[in-house]
Amino acid sequence: MVSSEWWRSAVIYQVYPRSFADSDGDGLGDLPGITSRLTALSALGVDAVWLSPFYTSPQNDAGYDVADYCDVDPRFGALSDFDELVAEAHRLGLRVIVDLVPNHTSSQHEWFQEALRAPEGSPERARYLFRDGKGPGGALPPNNWDSVFGGPAWTRVDRPDGTPGQWYLHLFDTSQPDLDWENPWVREQFHGILRFWLDRGVDGFRVDVAHGLIKKAGLPDYSPPKGIASMGGHVEDPPYWAQPGVHAIYRDWRSLLDEYPGERVLVAEAWVNPLSKLAHWVRPDEMDQAFNFDYLGTAWDASAIRKVIKGSLAAFGKVGAPSTWVLSNHDVVRHATRLAITTANPQGDGIGPKSPDKPNRVTGLRRARAATLLMLALPGSAYIYQGEELGLPEDMELPDSARQDPTWFRTNHKRYGRDGCRVPIPWEAGSPAYGFSPTGKSWLPQPADWAGYARDAQEGESGSTLELYRSALALRAQNSLGVGSVEWLRGFPPEVVAFRNGSVTVIANFGTGIVPLPRATRALTSEPVSDELPGETTVWLTMDRE
Ligand code: NOJ
Repeated sequence: MVSSEWWRSAVIYQVYPRSFADSDGDGLGDLPGITSRLTALSALGVDAVWLSPFYTSPQNDAGYDVADYCDVDPRFGALSDFDELVAEAHRLGLRVIVDLVPNHTSSQHEWFQEALRAPEGSPERARYLFRDGKGPGGALPPNNWDSVFGGPAWTRVDRPDGTPGQWYLHLFDTSQPDLDWENPWVREQFHGILRFWLDRGVDGFRVDVAHGLIKKAGLPDYSPPKGIASMGGHVEDPPYWAQPGVHAIYRDWRSLLDEYPGERVLVAEAWVNPLSKLAHWVRPDEMDQAFNFDYLGTAWDASAIRKVIKGSLAAFGKVGAPSTWVLSNHDVVRHATRLAITTANPQGDGIGPKSPDKPNRVTGLRRARAATLLMLALPGSAYIYQGEELGLPEDMELPDSARQDPTWFRTNHKRYGRDGCRVPIPWEAGSPAYGFSPTGKSWLPQPADWAGYARDAQEGESGSTLELYRSALALRAQNSLGVGSVEWLRGFPPEVVAFRNGSVTVIANFGTGIVPLPRATRALTSEPVSDELPGETTVWLTMDRE
């Protein structure tokens, strides 16, 4: 959509560069690979792409550990490749959103290397959160915080003379030291970084850990209640998540973005609950969108889905922002698997060979197709994670020896982590690495039975998941569903979610029984439908039938 405020209704496709397309055959995806495959995304019918990090990085957290914010890692290409990617995307009518990782840098970043060489109390140290330890000789960490990836959130460094010195905070891996956002020097650096990419023509930023930049003064001890997702998301007041001070940062960025022509956007990755609090991130003078992780986390349950849709539209609507909808990304179990899970699986745990609950693939895909059809009919902006349009499941049999997620290592192999949703995607059923790379190399091994998911195997095949996505996106655009509204329909059994959005009526059956359908044209169905709606199926109806 090129009309004003395109982002209010945009469908945004997440490209995970290392797993999308590899042009040079080293087994790691790259920017020229992405550029060469952009036509497939415009054919799919999305409005924008969001690129996960491709910056200079030791890749300890798949690029979310940035060593130079203003350059491309040679493994992904060069700045000229990025410029070509943006030019080609814009030529195809696709906007480009890049990832910004402001909470932490890589420990290889020169800011941190300089801080390590500088004395305690120096301005270089003040860029990060260095603190004295507790107990005799400062041998204990400054507080009891745990890292999101497991283990303590503090690491001790040595002084130049080799004696143990201060500790630094890292909410994630030890190689991802947290910046001190109370320090104006840090804020200044990020002005330059934002401008660098805006000047190169990006249409916006997805802001990593947008709820974590400010920590409560004094860094008080805190133990999260049991069962709480480690990225946050709870109603309490953890001293490292959702502190009120973050909002001044985004107001400042908003005015910086507004200096640029076009509508450049800020998207918050903020795991904040309840939705009414998350809505603070998208007040008119702050960001434009926030990922709706409440929606992503909702189980396969009609009343829970109704509740989260109502709650989202109300909470975001109250501040004049569009709601967003998302079912998968590079941090969670793919929804073609997750929706069939029968036991709890907290975000970031993953599923592996020894997991007790291995969801059924057929049930998972059936539910995923129904859930996607429901999602794409909702007003607001929707996110699609690469491969979900192919119906890709989580890779639950990834060998332990192949794993790379720091979660796996930092929890002593207790949590599998996120590699299972990051396996390179299949393009061509009969090519090496399913067309991901010309040599057949792949940084994570691809399952032997993925040929049927390949894009070329699904293209033009009626009933394929790819064609379902394409048709849904085309109808969504034709009927302007993204800027529509939800009118709930009564008279259906409780396991059915039914609403009208403009000219389209959506009926989603979360139960297993058959539901009679009103007389109307079936514009699109997630499974073959006769006069009745089968279980675990969604239908879009248009015009009444006589
Ligand atoms: C959220 C990102 O999506 C995730 O992949 C990363 O590990 C953490 N932030 C830390 O940057």
